[in-house]
Amino acid sequence: MVTTTDQSVGANSSEFLQNAWYVAALSDSVQRELTAIRLLSTNLVFYRTQGGTPVALEDACPHRKLPLSKGRLRGDNVECGYHGLTFDTSGGCVRAPTQERISPTACVRHYPTIDRYGLLWVWMGDIGSADETKLLAIDHYDDPAWHITSGASMVCQCNYLYLADNLLDPSHVAWVHQTSFAADGTEDAPLEMQEHDDGLVVARWIYDCEPPPFYQPLLKFSGKCDRLQHYEVRFPSVAVNMSVYCPAGTGGPEWQRTEQTYEMISYNLLTPIDQNSTRYFWMQQRNTDPDDENVTKQILEGARTAFLEDKEILEAVHIGVAGQSSRHINLAIDAGAIRFRHLLQQLIERERQSASDS
Ligand code: FES
Ligand SMILES: [Fe+2]
Repeated sequence: MVTTTDQSVGANSSEFLQNAWYVAALSDSVQRELTAIRLLSTNLVFYRTQGGTPVALEDACPHRKLPLSKGRLRGDNVECGYHGLTFDTSGGCVRAPTQERISPTACVRHYPTIDRYGLLWVWMGDIGSADETKLLAIDHYDDPAWHITSGASMVCQCNYLYLADNLLDPSHVAWVHQTSFAADGTEDAPLEMQEHDDGLVVARWIYDCEPPPFYQPLLKFSGKCDRLQHYEVRFPSVAVNMSVYCPAGTGGPEWQRTEQTYEMISYNLLTPIDQNSTRYFWMQQRNTDPDDENVTKQILEGARTAFLEDKEILEAVHIGVAGQSSRHINLAIDAGAIRFRHLLQQLIERERQSASDS
């Protein structure tokens, strides 16, 4: 089915969801230096205290808006590089060398942070609403029978919603990932969509098919398989992509984990830098060969190669849609992505409304 509406396509969402945890950086990349990071069209400065606690502050001195990242760390505080106003970890001014009295307005906003899974997360919304339980939970993270790769990242010159669209679109692998994930059924096996309170899933089982080239050497059985493509995005931009492979005849909605089952869960964490660029973080978790470094290397290389393929397409889509002179069409495969965009936009508008009411 082809429809000819141009609703919900494009990168025109004018706001971001603020009350959410976003990945700001790989944890290791923020240490005892002032590190400027832009996200949600906002400039922040990150650093660690002498005790190792991560700190995030607005990256603009309240005097002449020099980015604090151009200043110096003084113990656990930040000294502005222009006239020395100094701010503590809560953003309060604790020193004004050029005058005796410090105005209470001489402060910068601070943002709650959490170090988890090797990633540094930041809460961009109302501080009182910062809720640790809303941060992504990864099952089996410390389970020795499973393995999860360290986080990796890249910047994509496209709006984050194009990446979210892609991560709700199992069919694209047939054309974008022809040497890795494409196989029988990826072009046309039927898709199912499920809505949840925290997001949306587009999924399908493909039965009695050859495993795709990337997964074939990783499986613990030979011959044909039943294959699950589970594409899930949680609001605002956390994608959980699960692949399950079972010997043919043993898959389907009632599948049971056995010694032969292969499971790979890809966590894809999208942090808008602004409307035109996104920092894309990922980690791959598997239930086999937890200590095999060759398998880990193969997965790391395979993931980066595949995501570079996505990046090339989605950056070109961003430019293509921005420069459009004709109407967009939607295909039946877009149902999940369009619904996700609609639900997310409702959340953003509700958040904006409640902020203007308070
Ligand atoms: S600009 Fe920061 S103290 Fe003047
Ligand atoms: Fe992809």
